[in-house]
Amino acid sequence: MNQTRARIAGLGMYVPPNVVTNDDLAERMDTTDEWITQRTGIKQRHWVDPATSTSDLGAEAARAAIADAGLSGDDLDMILVATLSADHYFPGTACFVQEKLDLPGLPAIDVRQQCTGFVYATSIADQFIRTGFARRILVVGAEVHSKGLDISTAGRDVSVLFGDGAGAIVIEAVEVTDPTTESHVLSTHLHADGSGARELWMPGPGMAYERFITYEMLDKGLQFPEMNGRSVYVNAVKRMGEAVVEALDSNNSAVADVDLFVFHQANLRINEAVAERLGIPAEKVFNTIDRFANTTAATIPIGLAEARTAGVLEPGMLVCTAAFGSGFTWGSMLLRW
Ligand code: UT7
Repeated sequence: MNQTRARIAGLGMYVPPNVVTNDDLAERMDTTDEWITQRTGIKQRHWVDPATSTSDLGAEAARAAIADAGLSGDDLDMILVATLSADHYFPGTACFVQEKLDLPGLPAIDVRQQCTGFVYATSIADQFIRTGFARRILVVGAEVHSKGLDISTAGRDVSVLFGDGAGAIVIEAVEVTDPTTESHVLSTHLHADGSGARELWMPGPGMAYERFITYEMLDKGLQFPEMNGRSVYVNAVKRMGEAVVEALDSNNSAVADVDLFVFHQANLRINEAVAERLGIPAEKVFNTIDRFANTTAATIPIGLAEARTAGVLEPGMLVCTAAFGSGFTWGSMLLRW
Protein backbone atom coordinates (compact mmCIF):
# COMPACT_ATOMS: atom_id res chain seq x y z
CA MET A 1 0.00 0.00 0.00
CA ASN A 2 1.33 3.48 -0.88
CA GLN A 3 2.09 5.79 2.04
CA THR A 4 2.91 9.50 1.89
CA ARG A 5 6.29 9.95 3.49
CA ALA A 6 9.05 12.56 3.38
CA ARG A 7 12.38 12.11 1.63
CA ILE A 8 15.46 14.29 1.49
CA ALA A 9 15.52 15.62 -2.07
CA GLY A 10 18.34 18.13 -1.71
CA LEU A 11 21.27 18.72 0.64
CA GLY A 12 23.68 21.62 1.01
CA MET A 13 26.11 23.24 3.42
CA TYR A 14 28.09 26.41 3.82
CA VAL A 15 30.89 27.39 6.16
CA PRO A 16 32.58 30.80 6.19
CA PRO A 17 36.07 30.77 4.64
CA ASN A 18 38.00 31.92 7.72
CA VAL A 19 39.66 28.94 9.47
CA VAL A 20 40.69 29.30 13.13
CA THR A 21 43.10 26.61 14.34
CA ASN A 22 43.71 25.54 17.92
CA ASP A 23 47.07 27.28 17.72
CA ASP A 24 45.29 30.49 16.68
CA LEU A 25 43.17 30.24 19.86
CA ALA A 26 46.27 29.56 21.96
CA GLU A 27 47.49 33.04 20.98
CA ARG A 28 44.35 34.57 22.52
CA MET A 29 43.86 32.46 25.67
CA ASP A 30 45.65 29.99 27.93
CA THR A 31 45.01 26.79 25.98
CA THR A 32 46.91 24.36 23.78
CA ASP A 33 46.31 22.36 20.63
CA GLU A 34 47.14 19.27 22.69
CA TRP A 35 44.42 19.96 25.33
CA ILE A 36 41.72 20.69 22.75
CA THR A 37 42.65 17.75 20.49
CA GLN A 38 42.91 15.20 23.29
CA ARG A 39 39.70 16.21 25.08
CA THR A 40 37.47 16.94 22.07
CA GLY A 41 38.99 15.85 18.74
CA ILE A 42 38.73 19.41 17.41
CA LYS A 43 41.64 20.72 15.29
CA GLN A 44 40.06 23.80 13.72
CA ARG A 45 36.76 25.61 13.21
CA HIS A 46 35.41 28.20 10.75
CA TRP A 47 34.46 31.61 12.15
CA VAL A 48 32.64 34.39 10.30
CA ASP A 49 33.87 37.88 9.55
CA PRO A 50 32.10 40.68 11.44
CA ALA A 51 29.68 41.49 8.60
CA THR A 52 28.22 37.96 8.36
CA SER A 53 25.12 36.81 10.27
CA THR A 54 23.42 33.49 10.96
CA SER A 55 20.81 34.08 8.27
CA ASP A 56 23.60 34.77 5.73
CA LEU A 57 25.07 31.32 6.40
CA GLY A 58 21.62 29.73 6.42
CA ALA A 59 20.66 31.31 3.11
CA GLU A 60 23.88 30.07 1.46
CA ALA A 61 23.28 26.50 2.65
CA ALA A 62 19.63 26.77 1.59
CA ARG A 63 20.58 27.87 -1.94
CA ALA A 64 22.90 24.86 -2.21
CA ALA A 65 20.18 22.46 -0.99
CA ILE A 66 17.55 23.90 -3.34
CA ALA A 67 19.93 23.64 -6.31
CA ASP A 68 20.92 20.10 -5.28
CA ALA A 69 17.22 19.14 -5.39
CA GLY A 70 17.00 20.57 -8.92
CA LEU A 71 14.34 23.00 -7.72
CA SER A 72 13.83 26.72 -7.36
CA GLY A 73 12.65 28.54 -4.25
CA ASP A 74 9.19 28.86 -5.80
CA ASP A 75 8.74 25.09 -5.39
CA LEU A 76 8.86 25.34 -1.57
CA ASP A 77 5.85 25.40 0.78
CA MET A 78 7.57 26.24 4.07
CA ILE A 79 10.86 27.27 5.71
CA LEU A 80 12.11 25.93 9.04
CA VAL A 81 15.28 27.34 10.57
CA ALA A 82 16.92 25.74 13.60
CA THR A 83 19.35 28.00 15.43
CA LEU A 84 20.35 29.14 18.91
CA SER A 85 22.29 32.11 17.53
CA ALA A 86 19.49 34.23 16.14
CA ASP A 87 20.22 37.32 14.02
CA HIS A 88 17.96 39.33 16.35
CA TYR A 89 15.93 38.66 19.52
CA PHE A 90 12.85 38.90 17.30
CA PRO A 91 11.57 38.23 14.68
CA GLY A 92 12.84 34.72 14.11
CA THR A 93 15.82 33.98 11.89
CA ALA A 94 13.58 32.03 9.46
CA CYS A 95 12.09 35.38 8.41
CA PHE A 96 15.55 36.76 7.61
CA VAL A 97 16.52 33.62 5.68
CA GLN A 98 13.25 33.93 3.75
CA GLU A 99 13.98 37.60 2.95
CA LYS A 100 17.44 36.66 1.64
CA LEU A 101 15.98 33.88 -0.52
CA ASP A 102 13.32 36.33 -1.76
CA LEU A 103 10.42 33.97 -1.06
CA PRO A 104 7.68 36.15 0.47
CA GLY A 105 4.50 34.46 1.66
CA LEU A 106 5.90 31.11 2.76
CA PRO A 107 5.36 30.13 6.40
CA ALA A 108 8.68 30.64 8.19
CA ILE A 109 9.27 28.92 11.53
CA ASP A 110 12.15 29.10 14.00
CA VAL A 111 13.10 26.02 16.00
CA ARG A 112 15.04 26.64 19.21
CA GLN A 113 16.25 23.26 20.32
CA GLN A 114 19.98 24.02 20.14
CA CYS A 115 22.13 21.00 19.26
CA THR A 116 19.00 18.90 18.68
CA GLY A 117 17.47 21.67 16.56
CA PHE A 118 17.98 20.01 13.21
CA VAL A 119 16.45 16.73 14.39
CA TYR A 120 13.48 18.61 15.85
CA ALA A 121 13.04 20.71 12.68
CA THR A 122 13.24 17.69 10.38
CA SER A 123 10.71 15.87 12.56
CA ILE A 124 8.34 18.84 12.35
CA ALA A 125 8.77 18.93 8.57
CA ASP A 126 8.14 15.18 8.41
CA GLN A 127 4.84 15.58 10.29
CA PHE A 128 3.70 18.46 8.04
CA ILE A 129 4.43 16.33 4.98
CA ARG A 130 2.74 13.19 6.33
CA THR A 131 -0.45 15.16 7.03
CA GLY A 132 -0.41 16.75 3.56
CA PHE A 133 -0.09 20.32 4.92
CA ALA A 134 3.06 20.84 2.83
CA ARG A 135 4.81 18.98 0.02
CA ARG A 136 8.26 20.62 0.00
CA ILE A 137 9.95 22.12 3.04
CA LEU A 138 13.33 23.80 3.40
CA VAL A 139 14.97 22.82 6.70
CA VAL A 140 18.04 24.85 7.70
CA GLY A 141 20.41 24.51 10.65
CA ALA A 142 22.62 27.59 10.97
CA GLU A 143 24.84 29.04 13.67
CA VAL A 144 27.17 31.95 14.28
CA HIS A 145 28.78 31.18 17.65
CA SER A 146 32.03 33.06 17.34
CA LYS A 147 30.55 36.53 17.90
CA GLY A 148 28.97 35.46 21.20
CA LEU A 149 31.85 33.62 22.88
CA ASP A 150 34.18 34.79 25.62
CA ILE A 151 37.45 34.46 23.69
CA SER A 152 39.66 34.82 26.74
CA THR A 153 41.03 32.34 29.27
CA ALA A 154 37.91 32.85 31.42
CA GLY A 155 35.76 31.44 28.61
CA ARG A 156 38.12 28.78 27.29
CA ASP A 157 36.11 25.79 28.56
CA VAL A 158 33.31 26.74 26.12
CA SER A 159 34.81 28.94 23.41
CA VAL A 160 37.23 26.35 21.99
CA LEU A 161 34.33 23.98 21.27
CA PHE A 162 32.22 25.95 18.81
CA GLY A 163 32.33 26.79 15.10
CA ASP A 164 30.14 28.71 12.68
CA GLY A 165 28.37 27.09 9.74
CA ALA A 166 25.11 26.00 8.17
CA GLY A 167 23.54 22.99 6.53
CA ALA A 168 20.19 22.57 4.83
CA ILE A 169 17.91 20.02 3.25
CA VAL A 170 14.87 20.16 1.02
CA ILE A 171 12.50 17.50 2.23
CA GLU A 172 9.58 16.52 0.00
CA ALA A 173 6.53 14.26 -0.11
CA VAL A 174 6.96 10.89 -1.78
CA GLU A 175 4.65 7.93 -2.22
CA VAL A 176 6.52 4.98 -0.76
CA THR A 177 5.56 1.51 -1.94
CA ASP A 178 8.61 -0.40 -0.70
CA PRO A 179 9.96 1.09 2.55
CA THR A 180 12.90 -1.34 2.52
CA THR A 181 14.47 0.24 -0.56
CA GLU A 182 12.90 3.64 -1.30
CA SER A 183 14.38 6.88 0.01
CA HIS A 184 12.36 8.36 2.95
CA VAL A 185 12.38 9.27 6.62
CA LEU A 186 11.40 6.10 8.51
CA SER A 187 10.89 7.72 11.92
CA THR A 188 11.91 10.58 14.18
CA HIS A 189 12.14 10.61 17.99
CA LEU A 190 12.21 13.73 20.18
CA HIS A 191 12.84 14.32 23.90
CA ALA A 192 13.59 17.08 26.40
CA ASP A 193 14.27 17.49 30.12
CA GLY A 194 14.11 21.09 31.30
CA SER A 195 15.60 20.22 34.68
CA GLY A 196 18.93 20.35 32.83
CA ALA A 197 18.29 23.76 31.28
CA ARG A 198 20.89 25.58 33.38
CA GLU A 199 23.64 23.04 32.69
CA LEU A 200 24.31 24.57 29.26
CA TRP A 201 22.80 27.97 28.66
CA MET A 202 23.24 31.65 28.02
CA PRO A 203 21.74 33.19 31.19
CA GLY A 204 21.15 36.74 29.93
CA PRO A 205 19.76 38.99 28.67
CA GLY A 206 16.17 37.87 29.12
CA MET A 207 12.69 38.44 30.46
CA ALA A 208 13.41 36.29 33.56
CA TYR A 209 15.15 39.41 34.98
CA GLU A 210 13.65 42.66 36.31
CA ARG A 211 14.93 44.35 33.16
CA PHE A 212 15.68 42.57 29.89
CA ILE A 213 19.28 43.82 29.85
CA THR A 214 21.42 45.84 32.27
CA TYR A 215 25.04 46.95 32.46
CA GLU A 216 25.35 44.80 35.59
CA MET A 217 24.45 41.67 33.61
CA LEU A 218 27.07 42.48 31.01
CA ASP A 219 29.67 43.13 33.74
CA LYS A 220 28.92 39.65 35.14
CA GLY A 221 29.26 38.12 31.68
CA LEU A 222 25.76 36.63 31.61
CA GLN A 223 25.74 37.08 27.82
CA PHE A 224 28.34 34.31 27.45
CA PRO A 225 27.35 30.63 27.28
CA GLU A 226 27.92 28.67 30.51
CA MET A 227 28.33 24.92 30.68
CA ASN A 228 28.70 22.19 33.27
CA GLY A 229 30.88 20.16 30.92
CA ARG A 230 30.90 16.94 32.93
CA SER A 231 27.11 16.86 33.34
CA VAL A 232 26.59 17.59 29.63
CA TYR A 233 29.09 14.89 28.68
CA VAL A 234 27.51 12.19 30.86
CA ASN A 235 23.96 13.02 29.76
CA ALA A 236 24.96 13.23 26.09
CA VAL A 237 26.43 9.71 26.09
CA LYS A 238 23.38 8.29 27.91
CA ARG A 239 20.67 10.09 25.95
CA MET A 240 22.17 9.78 22.46
CA GLY A 241 22.59 6.08 23.04
CA GLU A 242 18.97 5.78 24.17
CA ALA A 243 17.79 7.75 21.15
CA VAL A 244 19.64 5.46 18.73
CA VAL A 245 18.15 2.37 20.37
CA GLU A 246 14.68 3.96 20.20
CA ALA A 247 15.04 4.63 16.47
CA LEU A 248 16.26 1.10 15.79
CA ASP A 249 13.65 -0.62 17.98
CA SER A 250 10.83 1.42 16.39
CA ASN A 251 11.79 0.00 13.01
CA ASN A 252 12.67 -3.55 14.09
CA SER A 253 16.24 -2.81 13.08
CA ALA A 254 19.61 -3.53 14.65
CA VAL A 255 22.95 -1.72 14.63
CA ALA A 256 24.13 -4.16 11.94
CA ASP A 257 21.32 -3.02 9.60
CA VAL A 258 22.51 0.62 9.68
CA ASP A 259 25.05 1.64 7.05
CA LEU A 260 26.02 5.03 8.49
CA PHE A 261 25.64 6.91 11.79
CA VAL A 262 25.80 10.71 11.56
CA PHE A 263 25.79 12.00 15.14
CA HIS A 264 25.83 15.51 16.52
CA GLN A 265 29.38 16.82 16.84
CA ALA A 266 29.97 18.09 20.37
CA ASN A 267 32.96 16.00 21.32
CA LEU A 268 34.62 13.11 19.48
CA ARG A 269 34.89 11.27 22.81
CA ILE A 270 31.09 11.43 23.26
CA ASN A 271 30.52 9.81 19.87
CA GLU A 272 33.20 7.18 20.53
CA ALA A 273 31.57 6.35 23.88
CA VAL A 274 28.10 6.03 22.29
CA ALA A 275 29.50 3.78 19.57
CA GLU A 276 31.35 1.62 22.08
CA ARG A 277 28.25 1.18 24.29
CA LEU A 278 26.09 0.15 21.36
CA GLY A 279 28.68 -1.96 19.57
CA ILE A 280 28.82 0.31 16.52
CA PRO A 281 32.02 -0.21 14.47
CA ALA A 282 34.07 2.99 14.24
CA GLU A 283 34.02 2.95 10.43
CA LYS A 284 30.22 3.35 10.46
CA VAL A 285 30.37 6.64 12.40
CA PHE A 286 31.04 9.73 10.27
CA ASN A 287 32.55 12.65 12.20
CA THR A 288 33.40 16.18 11.11
CA ILE A 289 34.30 17.73 14.47
CA ASP A 290 38.04 17.87 13.68
CA ARG A 291 37.41 20.40 10.88
CA PHE A 292 34.25 22.28 11.93
CA ALA A 293 33.98 21.85 15.75
CA ASN A 294 30.47 22.03 17.20
CA THR A 295 28.18 23.99 14.85
CA THR A 296 25.12 23.06 16.96
CA ALA A 297 22.00 22.91 14.73
CA ALA A 298 24.20 22.63 11.63
CA THR A 299 26.27 19.58 12.61
CA ILE A 300 23.98 16.90 11.18
CA PRO A 301 23.28 18.42 7.74
CA ILE A 302 26.98 19.33 7.47
CA GLY A 303 27.79 15.72 8.42
CA LEU A 304 25.44 14.35 5.78
CA ALA A 305 26.83 16.70 3.13
CA GLU A 306 30.45 15.89 3.99
CA ALA A 307 29.69 12.16 4.08
CA ARG A 308 28.17 12.35 0.63
CA THR A 309 31.15 14.29 -0.71
CA ALA A 310 33.49 11.72 0.86
CA GLY A 311 31.62 8.95 -0.95
CA VAL A 312 30.47 7.16 2.21
CA LEU A 313 26.78 8.17 1.93
CA GLU A 314 25.08 6.58 -1.03
CA PRO A 315 21.49 6.08 -2.21
CA GLY A 316 19.67 3.19 -0.54
CA MET A 317 21.72 3.31 2.66
CA LEU A 318 20.07 3.13 6.07
CA VAL A 319 21.25 6.17 8.03
CA CYS A 320 20.78 6.89 11.73
CA THR A 321 21.29 10.35 13.20
CA ALA A 322 21.14 11.37 16.86
CA ALA A 323 21.78 14.56 18.78
CA PHE A 324 21.91 15.87 22.35
CA GLY A 325 22.23 19.40 23.61
CA SER A 326 21.12 22.36 25.64
CA GLY A 327 17.65 22.10 27.11
CA PHE A 328 18.43 19.29 27.72
CA THR A 329 17.06 18.12 24.39
CA TRP A 330 17.83 14.96 22.45
CA GLY A 331 16.46 12.95 19.57
CA SER A 332 17.14 10.67 16.63
CA MET A 333 16.04 9.86 13.09
CA LEU A 334 16.26 6.81 10.89
CA LEU A 335 16.41 7.52 7.16
CA ARG A 336 16.58 5.48 3.99
CA TRP A 337 18.93 7.70 1.94
O1 UT7 B 1 26.31 19.99 22.26
C1 UT7 B 1 26.57 20.01 23.62
C2 UT7 B 1 27.73 20.92 23.83
N1 UT7 B 1 28.76 20.56 24.72
C3 UT7 B 1 29.20 19.34 25.05
O2 UT7 B 1 28.68 18.30 24.70
C4 UT7 B 1 30.42 19.28 25.91
C5 UT7 B 1 30.41 18.13 26.87
N2 UT7 B 1 31.58 18.21 27.74
C6 UT7 B 1 32.82 17.98 27.31
O3 UT7 B 1 33.02 17.69 26.14
C7 UT7 B 1 33.97 18.09 28.30
O4 UT7 B 1 33.41 18.24 29.58
C8 UT7 B 1 34.92 19.25 27.97
C9 UT7 B 1 35.74 18.91 26.72
C10 UT7 B 1 34.18 20.52 27.74
C11 UT7 B 1 35.89 19.46 29.11
O5 UT7 B 1 36.61 18.27 29.36
P1 UT7 B 1 36.82 17.78 30.87
O6 UT7 B 1 37.69 16.60 30.82
O7 UT7 B 1 35.45 17.61 31.49
O8 UT7 B 1 37.63 18.97 31.49
P2 UT7 B 1 37.27 19.83 32.78
O9 UT7 B 1 36.16 20.76 32.49
O10 UT7 B 1 37.15 18.91 33.95
O11 UT7 B 1 38.58 20.68 32.93
C12 UT7 B 1 39.86 20.04 33.20
C13 UT7 B 1 40.90 21.11 33.30
C14 UT7 B 1 40.52 22.26 34.24
O12 UT7 B 1 41.68 22.68 34.90
P3 UT7 B 1 42.00 22.19 36.43
O13 UT7 B 1 40.84 22.66 37.25
O14 UT7 B 1 42.09 20.69 36.34
O15 UT7 B 1 43.29 22.85 36.75
C15 UT7 B 1 40.09 23.36 33.30
O16 UT7 B 1 40.29 24.64 33.84
O17 UT7 B 1 41.12 21.72 32.02
C16 UT7 B 1 41.01 23.15 32.13
N3 UT7 B 1 40.49 23.68 30.88
C17 UT7 B 1 41.28 23.96 29.84
N4 UT7 B 1 42.60 23.89 29.68
C18 UT7 B 1 43.11 24.26 28.48
C19 UT7 B 1 39.19 23.90 30.53
N5 UT7 B 1 39.14 24.35 29.26
C20 UT7 B 1 40.42 24.40 28.80
C21 UT7 B 1 41.00 24.78 27.58
N6 UT7 B 1 42.34 24.69 27.47
N7 UT7 B 1 40.27 25.19 26.53
